[in-house]
Amino acid sequence: MAMALETRAAYTTWCRDILFEDDIVIAAGLLQKALNLHLIAIYDRIGLKELLKTPQTVEQLAAALGYIDSASITLEAMLQRLSSRYPFVEKCEAENTVKFKHNARIPKYASELEFVEQELSGLGENYNATIEFLKFGNDRFEYALRDDPEFLDRILSGRESEWKDLWFRATNVDPLQNVHGIMGAMAIDGLFESGDILEIGGGTGNGIRNLLELLDKKGELDRVNRYTFTDISQKFIMSTRHEILANYPSLKTEWRFVDLNVPINKQQIEDESVDLIYAVNAAHVAKDIVAFLKSCRETLRPGGRVVFSERIRLDPMDMAPRELTLNLSIYHRTAAYRNSTYRPMHCYLSTENWMHVLHLAGFSEAECCPELEELQDSFPDQYAAVVTAVK
Ligand SMILES: C[S@@+](CC[C@H](N)C(=O)[O-])C[C@H]1O[C@@H](n2cnc3c(N)ncnc32)[C@H](O)[C@@H]1O
Repeated sequence: MAMALETRAAYTTWCRDILFEDDIVIAAGLLQKALNLHLIAIYDRIGLKELLKTPQTVEQLAAALGYIDSASITLEAMLQRLSSRYPFVEKCEAENTVKFKHNARIPKYASELEFVEQELSGLGENYNATIEFLKFGNDRFEYALRDDPEFLDRILSGRESEWKDLWFRATNVDPLQNVHGIMGAMAIDGLFESGDILEIGGGTGNGIRNLLELLDKKGELDRVNRYTFTDISQKFIMSTRHEILANYPSLKTEWRFVDLNVPINKQQIEDESVDLIYAVNAAHVAKDIVAFLKSCRETLRPGGRVVFSERIRLDPMDMAPRELTLNLSIYHRTAAYRNSTYRPMHCYLSTENWMHVLHLAGFSEAECCPELEELQDSFPDQYAAVVTAVK
C-alpha cells in the first residue's frame, strides 16, 4: 500500500491483485442479487401486478400509488432493472413513450434473500452494514415516497439523529463503500505532488480519513499545504472536523459549507486557488454536471487536477444496489439534467459519460482508473473507479 501508483496500468494491477480481495468480489456479486430480490419483494408488496395489468408509464404509476411526482424516477430505475432481467415485467416502447406491463408469475424471493444475506454476513461483520442499508430502503419504500418525501434527505444530511449511525455505517463501515476512499487516496498519492486540496461533499469523511491515513503512514502529511473540507451538511462538517482535528492537530484545515450546485467562486473560494479538487461519491450529486465541472476548472490553478472517486454505472441505464435506498431521497433522484449522450439516467455516470463531461468542461488528460476491461474476468460486478483530469 505504501508505493505511489503513477500509471493507470500499475493502478489496475494494484486494484486487481491487492485491493479487490475475494470478499469484495463476492460481496459485490451478492449485493446485485440482493437488490433484485428486494425489488421483486417491493413490486409484490406495493401491488404492481395489479396496477400493471394494463401498460403504464412511471408517471402514471407514481400518481396511482399516491407517491410524490419525482418517485417516477425511483419506479423507472426499479422497473428498468427488473424488466431487463426477468420476464414477469415487460418494458414496452411506442411513439416515444415507455410503459411497463406485468406479464407472468412473480418469482419467489423471501428464502433466497435470506440466504443471500446470510452469505454476505458470513463474509465479515462489516458486511452487515451493506445488508442494513438495502433492507432499510425496502422497509421504508412507501413511507419515503408517499408519507414523508424528505425523510431520506434528512437522513443523508445527518438531520435524523435516530438514523445517523445507519448512514455513517453505510458510507464508512461497509467495506464496499470504504473501498472508494482507499482508491481515491491511492490515486492522489500517485498523481498529486503537493499543494492545496479542496474536498467537495466530504460528508462523513471517507475521503479525508483514508487520504490522511495513507500520507501519514508514508510520513508525507506535509504534501498537504491546506485542506479545505466542504459539504452542505453542517452536522457532517462538524463531526468530521472533530475526528480529523483530534488525529491530525497540526494539519492546516478549513471547514466550510459549499453547495456543488452553486458556482464555487460565489462561495468565498477564489478562482485559481487550489491544486486538487477531491470528492468521494459526491460529484455525481451535481444537477448540471458540466456546469459543476466548469466551476471546478475555474477553481483550480493551472495544471491542477480533479480526482473523483465514484460509483460508476457499467451499463449506463442500470440501477446500482445502493440506489434502492438512495433513490428514496429527493436529492439523489433530481441529481441530473438528463442528456441522452452523456447522462441518460440520474446521478451516477458511466466511465464514458465521465470522459464526455470532463471534455465538455474543458479538462484534458481525462482518465478513469482502473482499466475496467482488464478487470472484467476477475471482478465482473466491479463498480468503483477514480475519474481524474487536468486543467
Ligand atoms: C454519498 S455521500 C459521500 C460522503 C463522503 N464523501 C463519503 O464518501 O463518506 C454524498 C455527500 O454529498 C453531500 N451533498 C449532497 N448534496 C450536496 C450539494 N448540493 N453540494 C455539496 N455536497 C452535497 C452530502 O451531504 C453527502 O455528505
